[in-house]
Amino acid sequence: MQIIDGKKIAAEIKAEIAAEVKQIIASGGKQPHLAAILVGHDGGSETYVAGKVKDCEDCNFKSTLIRFEDSVTEEILISEVRKLNANPDVDGFIVQLPLPRHINEHKILEAIDYRKDVDGFHPVNVGRMSIGLPCFISATPFGIVELLRRYNIETAGKHCTVLGRSNIVGKPVASLLMQKNNPGDCTVTVCHSRTKDIKNYCLDADIIIAALGVPGFLKGNMVKDGAVVIDVGTTRVPVPSSETKTGFRLKGDVEFEEVAPKCSFITPVPGGVGPMTRVALMKNTLLACKGNIFSEN
Ligand code: GUN
Repeated sequence: MQIIDGKKIAAEIKAEIAAEVKQIIASGGKQPHLAAILVGHDGGSETYVAGKVKDCEDCNFKSTLIRFEDSVTEEILISEVRKLNANPDVDGFIVQLPLPRHINEHKILEAIDYRKDVDGFHPVNVGRMSIGLPCFISATPFGIVELLRRYNIETAGKHCTVLGRSNIVGKPVASLLMQKNNPGDCTVTVCHSRTKDIKNYCLDADIIIAALGVPGFLKGNMVKDGAVVIDVGTTRVPVPSSETKTGFRLKGDVEFEEVAPKCSFITPVPGGVGPMTRVALMKNTLLACKGNIFSEN
C-alpha cells in the first residue's frame, strides 16, 4: 500500500510554477495576476482566500483581494465582476463561494468572462471540459487527475466508482475519467444518496473516488484488495480541545485505518487531495496569463 502524498506533489507543482514565472518575468513577460472577490466574513472562506493569497506569493504571482460586506447587492457584485473582466492586468479571478442567500450564485458565475474563470465554474468551461476541449478544469477534479498522473496509476479500462454527484467534484471527475485520455479511459459509475446497493459498486471498483461529504462513509468491507482510493471528503469533526487548538480535525469520507491496508494507493486526509486543489488555481492562473488556452478554436 502506498500513501499518495498530495502535499509533496502540490509543493513540487508550486515550485515548477514559481520557476516558470521567474523565467517569464526575467524575459520581460507579464507577471500572472489573480484577483479574488470575498463577500462577508465566513471563517472557512477567509481561510481559503488567505491560502490563495499565500499561494500567489509562493508562485511569484500578483494578487488582489476585493472585499464586500454581506449586505452587498447583486448589481454591485456584477458590476465588480465586469470591471475585472475588462481589466487587462487581471489574468484570472474567482468569486469565493458560498455567497449570501440573497445573491444568485449562478448569475454571478455566469457574469465572469470564461477566459478569466480560473475556478472553471462557468458553464462554458464545464461544457468544454465535458467534450474534451481546452478549458479551465475546476480545482478538485484537476487535483485528482494530476495525482493519478504523477503516481503513474493505470486508469485505462479500469472501473472507477465515484461517490457523489456534485457539480464541483462528482460530475466533473466522472466526466474527465471517462474521456479518451490518460488518465482516463475508465468505465465510470456515479453513485449518490439515492443509489441502491452502493457497497456492490464499490466492491467492484478498481478506483474509488469518495466525494460525498459523509465522514467515514467508505468502510473496509466495501473495498476490494488492490483498489485505489481517493478521498475528497474534508468534514470538520469536533475533537477535545486537548487534541487540537482549533477544537476540530478534518475527517475524510474514508475510514482510513480499515480501508488503507486493502489498497494499492490511498490519499490521506489531510494531505491528499486538499493541497492539490489549491495548486490547481495557480496552474489555471498561469495558463490564463499565457493566454493561448482558447485561441485554437
Ligand atoms: N469555496 C470553497 N471552495 C471554493 C473554490 O474552489 N472556489 C470558490 N470560488 N469558492 C470556493
